[in-house]
Amino acid sequence: ALQLTLAVIKPDGVAHPLVLEALHQKILDNSFVIVKCKELAWKKQDFEKFYVEHAGRFFYQRLVEFMSSGPMRAYVLAREDAVSHWRELMGPTKVFRAIYTSPASLRGQYGLTDTRNTTHGSDSMEAARREIGFFFPEFSVEAWMQQD
Ligand code: CMP
Repeated sequence: ALQLTLAVIKPDGVAHPLVLEALHQKILDNSFVIVKCKELAWKKQDFEKFYVEHAGRFFYQRLVEFMSSGPMRAYVLAREDAVSHWRELMGPTKVFRAIYTSPASLRGQYGLTDTRNTTHGSDSMEAARREIGFFFPEFSVEAWMQQD
């Protein structure tokens, strides 16, 4: 079914203009429609809320430090089964796993480390709704889904 998902190009993917361009092109090449797109920067405290499910994990502090280190680009993407297709395109979280199992994936090609892994994607439709609300509070998933 048609779904929306929240995708983020993290600060490592935004830092180099050619990498950013390649990642953006991958979105278009994989049949996603870009519903919303914006570049923005968040403070540490914002990411502490966004990543609250990881609070206490050994990588939590480095994750919020990294994510708040520079601008990122957030997308609302639409596609048939957008959530799972975007996650498949990203590849596994861990970069070495990505390189070995999914070398053509975004993280396999551009990921630097397990933290600086280029992209984020919602892991379920419920997460997508919540995360779209974080990044695009002005956007209504319901209204978009019901448009004719
Ligand atoms: P993401 O899928 O956006 O959501 C959680 C993030 O935590 C993940 O991407 C990585 O950036 C980071 N992360 C997950 N696992 C590790 C790990 N083992 N070491 C460091 N960072 C991690």
